[in-house]
Amino acid sequence: MTAPLLEIEGLRVAAEGTAQGGPGSAGGPGSAGGPGSAGGPGSAGGPGAPGESGQIVRGIDLVVGAGEVHALMGPNGAGKSTLAATLMGHPTYRVVAGSIRFKGEDITHWATDARAKAGLFLAFQYPETIDGVSVVQFLRQAMSARRGQDVSALEVRLAMTEWMERLGMDPSFGERYLNQGFSGGEKKRNEILQMAMLEPELAVLDETDSGLDIDALGVVGRGVHTVRELHPTLGVLVVTHYQRLLETLVPDRVHLLVDGRIVESGGPELANKIERNGYESWRR
Ligand SMILES: Nc1ncnc2c1ncn2[C@@H]1O[C@H](COP(=O)(O)OP(=O)(O)O)[C@@H](O)[C@H]1O
Ligand SMILES: [Mg+2]
Repeated sequence: MTAPLLEIEGLRVAAEGTAQGGPGSAGGPGSAGGPGSAGGPGSAGGPGAPGESGQIVRGIDLVVGAGEVHALMGPNGAGKSTLAATLMGHPTYRVVAGSIRFKGEDITHWATDARAKAGLFLAFQYPETIDGVSVVQFLRQAMSARRGQDVSALEVRLAMTEWMERLGMDPSFGERYLNQGFSGGEKKRNEILQMAMLEPELAVLDETDSGLDIDALGVVGRGVHTVRELHPTLGVLVVTHYQRLLETLVPDRVHLLVDGRIVESGGPELANKIERNGYESWRR
């Protein structure tokens, strides 16, 4: 029996600089006044552990196997992006309890680059725009880092040309500066291109602000589908609150995150149920 790709157990996460993040932090941005924030209703006496004020992710268990697609849905502020950023090892977020295992290894405290090298791909691990670095130059750096050895410019160009064709991308895209003036759809194409070329074992895709861009949703859905045809063992954790994405990228499991907890898990029908009923019925 091989270990599942990703095993999240009892995970609790706080943002650095908020409650539990150090002295003088209570009342920082994001903590004051929000539901479940320090002193707010739903913290004291709630069903969670005592002292969980300041926690954004409040006890999550989640297992993703090779080749599986899991969708994480939930209202704004539920903690979806925090969970995704924590999986990448983003320094803003601190694991206060629980663990993250990847291919059987405890990566809870690993640095971001070590996670990437091990085969974890996080779509937003890269800066928004990088002046003077083209898409193809960036890909070469990222591929070399992933493999732990230099990848030749020729190899990168050949692979890029192939993937751009598969993904229906304009070849001139490779020469553009990374993310500079990219539309929502182009950012997503770039993300999918990176994912395809880095050959990760698990991809975490956060659909944050481009969510409303229908073009971008289609790009992600079809793109992941194309990559999975070539790499059927790729595991995907996709964060979205748009059921529409899941029409092209059909998930094996859907998880509903509310107030930092998974309140329900199910098959694709759960996404339809959420689409019909909204999130209200799950709120405390
Ligand atoms: N760096 C941070 N500092 C303080 N609060 C944060 C930080 N990041 C996120 N939060 C808060 O955590 C909650 C969840 O945010 P987020 O994970 O972005 O939710 P989602 O992606 O589900 O919309 C929000 O209330 C947000 O304000
Ligand atoms: Mg988000």
